[in-house]
Amino acid sequence: MDIQQDRETVRLWSVRRLYGTAAHTVKALDGVSAAFHAGTLTAVMGPSGSGKSTLLHCAAGLDRPTDGKIVIDGTDLGSLDENGLTLLRRQRVGFVFQAFNLVSALTAEQNVALPLRLAGRPAPPAEVRAALAEVGLADRVRHRPSGLSGGEQQRVAIARALITRPAVMFADEPTGQLDMKASRQVLGMLRNLVDNQAQTVIMVTHDPVTASYADRVLFLADGRVVDEFTSGVTAESVARRMANLEEEAAGC
Ligand SMILES: Nc1ncnc2c1ncn2[C@@H]1O[C@H](COP(=O)(O)OP(=O)(O)O)[C@@H](O)[C@H]1O
Ligand SMILES: [Mg+2]
Repeated sequence: MDIQQDRETVRLWSVRRLYGTAAHTVKALDGVSAAFHAGTLTAVMGPSGSGKSTLLHCAAGLDRPTDGKIVIDGTDLGSLDENGLTLLRRQRVGFVFQAFNLVSALTAEQNVALPLRLAGRPAPPAEVRAALAEVGLADRVRHRPSGLSGGEQQRVAIARALITRPAVMFADEPTGQLDMKASRQVLGMLRNLVDNQAQTVIMVTHDPVTASYADRVLFLADGRVVDEFTSGVTAESVARRMANLEEEAAGC
């Protein structure tokens, strides 16, 4: 592992996120500490309600923890006001969602240019087209989302997430709405970004096959990290561990 890969892009210290009232509190995150190194793909797994989405939202600066500390690319999120957080999300973070979240009235190239425009930066057409070519969509730049397949829409979303060269990309169930062939393509693309461009990716999924593309799997249960695989990540090993956790969650 070289020095670049050893750099921590995201770190959480004892992060808690409570919801509800004093009388009835839900501990969505109950003391999560974790580091995410540059140029790695991490899958976050756990039973429904274990805190996966809350972890992603807090780590990405979309939600604030009740306590604990989160650092992205050297910046302590707790030191930022709302405006600062918005800027950090626009400039340092990329997002890919299950439902693609493209703007339906805009073409593929206009969707990809959007984060640069929002950040008040120029969006050189050549750069936007290169980003679309990177995800295999050079011949789709003028298509609107309705004229693209699900897999193509998700690849536009990946190009859009990468156009600002973010320190970290967060993906929430990125293949949840795709068939097996399109899923493989999208996951292969994420894997390539990690291997060839040292992109850091943190992906929430409940699917062991999706998780098997990761270097490392973090398992959550009841708002805590209860296990971690850093080697031997296969769909089978992940499925077995998930089955245990789901049995425990069901009180078996
Ligand atoms: N906005 C909210 N208000 C109240 N409870 C919430 C809220 N968001 C999440 N929770 C609760 O926090 C826990 C973790 O939720 P979540 O992070 O969505 O889990 P997962 O993504 O693993 O299914 C659940 O018990 C959920 O009901
Ligand atoms: Mg969720």
